[in-house]
Amino acid sequence: MKTPPNYPSRPRLRPPLRSAVALAALLAGAAGTAGAADPKRGEALAFEYHCMTCHGPRGRSSDGRYPHLAGQHAAYLEIRLNYFRSAVEPTNQMNAQAVHLEDDEIADLAAYFASQP
Ligand code: HEC
Repeated sequence: MKTPPNYPSRPRLRPPLRSAVALAALLAGAAGTAGAADPKRGEALAFEYHCMTCHGPRGRSSDGRYPHLAGQHAAYLEIRLNYFRSAVEPTNQMNAQAVHLEDDEIADLAAYFASQP
């Protein structure tokens, strides 16, 4: 029997594969900016913006409502801060924290918290 002309030869593989490529590109981009980031400036910014008030000293939270940031991947922290800055979830508490941050500040904050034990 002949295969119908519009038979999907690679069923359901294409869209997830496209997302994976997009995610890899996003992560590579974020990692690229993290390489140029300045964790010392990030530390100063973390005090200036009172990140420790909720996330704890050096990003070690003692309150279950607030995630640890210490030792997290810098690329992931950048992705999260960009996400909050875009206010995807209108009621998220982090939106107000991230809305004023410049790209280089996000990179420096991420580098600082990632470098903490
Ligand atoms: C008023 C309390 C508060 C302050 C101040 C605050 N945060 Fe947050 N932060 C939160 C809460 C609550 C969450 C969890 C939100 C969520 O994941 O939806 C969070 C989540 C995060 C996350 C995501 C962590 C993860 O594991 O996904 C990052 C990164 C982050 N904050 C960075 C910062 C930085 C950098 C600052 C300072 C500029 C800051 N936060 C200031 C309350 C705060």
